[in-house]
Amino acid sequence: MNSIWTKDVKIQSFHELTGDIQADTIIIGGGIAGILCAHLLCSRGIDTVVIEKDRICGGQTKNTTAKITSQHGVCYGRLIKHFGVDAASLYAKSHEEAIRQYEEIIRDLNIDCDFEILPSYLYAVSDDKIIEDEFEAAKKLGIPCRTSCHTSLPFAVKNALEFKNQAQFHPLKFLGALTQNLKIYENTAALDVRDNTIITNHGNIKAKHIVVATHYPFINAPGYYFARMHQSRAYAVAITGGNTLDGMYYGADGGYSFRSSGDYLIIGGGEHRTGENKEGGRYSELEEAAKRFFPDCSIDAKWSAQDCVPIDEVLYAGLYSPSTPDMYVITGFNKWGMTGAMVGAGVVCDLITKRGSEYEKLYSPSRFNVPASAEHFLADAAESVKGLSKEFLGLPKTTIENLPNSHGGIVEAGGHKVGVYKDENGRAYIVSTRCTHLGCQLEWNPDEKSWDCPCHGSRFDIEGKPIDNPALKPLERMH
Ligand SMILES: Cc1cc2nc3c(=O)[nH]c(=O)nc-3n(C[C@H](O)[C@H](O)[C@H](O)COP(=O)(O)OP(=O)(O)OC[C@H]3O[C@@H](n4cnc5c(N)ncnc54)[C@H](O)[C@@H]3O)c2cc1C
Ligand code: FES
Repeated sequence: MNSIWTKDVKIQSFHELTGDIQADTIIIGGGIAGILCAHLLCSRGIDTVVIEKDRICGGQTKNTTAKITSQHGVCYGRLIKHFGVDAASLYAKSHEEAIRQYEEIIRDLNIDCDFEILPSYLYAVSDDKIIEDEFEAAKKLGIPCRTSCHTSLPFAVKNALEFKNQAQFHPLKFLGALTQNLKIYENTAALDVRDNTIITNHGNIKAKHIVVATHYPFINAPGYYFARMHQSRAYAVAITGGNTLDGMYYGADGGYSFRSSGDYLIIGGGEHRTGENKEGGRYSELEEAAKRFFPDCSIDAKWSAQDCVPIDEVLYAGLYSPSTPDMYVITGFNKWGMTGAMVGAGVVCDLITKRGSEYEKLYSPSRFNVPASAEHFLADAAESVKGLSKEFLGLPKTTIENLPNSHGGIVEAGGHKVGVYKDENGRAYIVSTRCTHLGCQLEWNPDEKSWDCPCHGSRFDIEGKPIDNPALKPLERMH
């Protein structure tokens, strides 16, 4: 299932690494975070190389909805409560600056990427108070905003909070232009990092600085990101025959996300923790919603992606861990990776070039804010215990024979628990259901036909090949 962005842009391809090399800085991961970081470092004269395990922009970035906004759902009241007014102001300021940085880069490099300045609205269909509270919080932080119950959405809202001067763009047109001036190796996977050397599948790379921008970090220790971040999936459809909206919209009380792009209207939603979608039906829910809003519309594309959610819901950018003085990380964008990647790349670039950043402390991966983290920390820990213990529980009652064609699920075969997908011709693809990251039990995702892990969000295809981090190794194939 491909997003509309991949339909009209073909990003230039790059050779794989052939043998050992050296560079000042190596970025691992060619998504928006890695590419922006490489761009900022190169513009400060730092010799930088990006390595990407598949194709650049082929991860979550190709499936974003690409709203560039500091309006991150219902967030500012919570940030003030847990971090205080000063830190919440810094958060808002950094993401506002990120929008302006996009504008500057696009203007300076003359990039044709459908960049548009538009308002961003947080709307509620039933809970007026949620908008009023967020409005008060935003005003306290000096964010230019106002409320109104008149929108261009195809249904009535109770209230909506408008942030002015936000933006949207075509992410792949933008990144395709930036990558033309970068040194990139594709199909080159980092397998391990030992001091200042990255071990890849095509040679070793020595670097003074290493930046891990792999969406979910793949190195378990040090750092232990798996203990403080889970992943959450969301789905989108693009339709024609709907309204063109006057801005970007995000539901505060469970509603859908909307943005226009040329003739398309993108509707997003169906969010769930990765590994918790056994029943499926996320795309059909979005398609039904689209038909309800615009009965004559046609569904032109559908796709999904996932987000890294830190326990305190604030991104991590800085040293990978206090014991790795030359290794950095940019991750944990919690649904907002367009401004998040720009902010994170800026912090890491300032650290590498020793410029000092006012945002260093707020986004430091070493912070631990107990009140902000407690709720998610406990929920994540409970989920991991559940996922691990499930793998050792009794055998399922279903067998391979009972599984209909074009379906997947966990079944009993020869006294073992196995994961099976039967294609439309009845051919069975059988894999172990034990996640190769830390051993949790995988669950079948019928919407994506993939095996997904509820613990930290690794995903595998029907043949067991890893799709999403943190797992690196394939699932065991069974016969
Ligand atoms: C449905 C949906 C809609 C969204 N819409 C918005 C939006 O409107 N606005 C917004 O701000 N954010 C949005 N987001 C979030 C945003 O899209 C992501 O946060 C962002 O794209 C993540 O970028 P990334 O560079 O961290 O990850 P990726 O794009 O996944 O890049 C990471 C790269 O690292 C590579 N990699 C992984 N491991 C290795 C390895 N070992 N060696 C080499 N390479 C490796 C991967 O192959 C991948 O290409 C949305 C998210 C979802 C789920
Ligand atoms: S992703 Fe960590 S155990 Fe599966």
